[in-house]
Amino acid sequence: MNLVMFGPPGSGKGTQAERIRNRYRLRHISTGDLLRDAVARKTELGRKVESILASGALVSDDLVLALMRDAIAQVGNDAQYAGWLLDGFPRTIGQAEGLDAILADLKQEIGALVVLDVKREALVDRLSGRRTCTQCKTVFHVKVNPPQVDGVCDKCGGALVQREDDRPETIAKRLEVYAAQTQPVLAHYRGRLPVHEIDGELPVDEVTRRIECVLA
Ligand code: AP5
Repeated sequence: MNLVMFGPPGSGKGTQAERIRNRYRLRHISTGDLLRDAVARKTELGRKVESILASGALVSDDLVLALMRDAIAQVGNDAQYAGWLLDGFPRTIGQAEGLDAILADLKQEIGALVVLDVKREALVDRLSGRRTCTQCKTVFHVKVNPPQVDGVCDKCGGALVQREDDRPETIAKRLEVYAAQTQPVLAHYRGRLPVHEIDGELPVDEVTRRIECVLA
């Protein structure tokens, strides 16, 4: 099964992707994680995109499509996975059209889109309270899902940090970019494949249960 997890910044795409990938043996491919990893490793790509990520704007379609072509192709050659789960991609009409071409080439297709609906006020609250583990990338929230020890990951003991782009002015920019460039991507898929809208404001376990229900 191949899935796309869709929704605005802070809607819970990463949180839910981590939960459902094991159940369906999917490779979780997050463009945000791949790009942040490139920045952390100071690769050529990382140097190109660092300031773009920090500003809340989108990286160019060409760079993202090249990254995703490789990532998707690799999954097909790896027997431990039954498919992939895209998180944070496609994010523009150009990326959606590019993905169509990549999948036609690889003779693969998307099984369904899962769309997490969350209102703006809740998104701002979630993003400003998010803390991420520097080592295992587990996500916490200072109020909703706090770690047992302040600033320390429950899972691996790594340090928890606030993402560079989770500061108020950048959050506003990311939400603007989502409305202008990413939301229109849904129209590209409606009527072509199953699009499951889920209330992302429900508790995390309930959101997972509903996703599993629509995919069953
Ligand atoms: P990316 O990393 O993709 O960020 P995003 O889409 O903005 O999404 P987030 O990771 O912020 O949120 P999420 O939906 O995964 O929520 P999470 O589960 O963490 O992209 C970052 C940047 O990279 C972009 O701005 C851009 O520059 C670049 N980029 C990435 N992809 C690109 C592309 N395709 N093209 C061009 N540029 C690209 O949850 C958030 C918080 O809410 C957490 O604290 C969590 O604990 C909490 N939470 C989750 N679920 C619930 C719930 N049900 N109830 C209460 N709290 C919850």
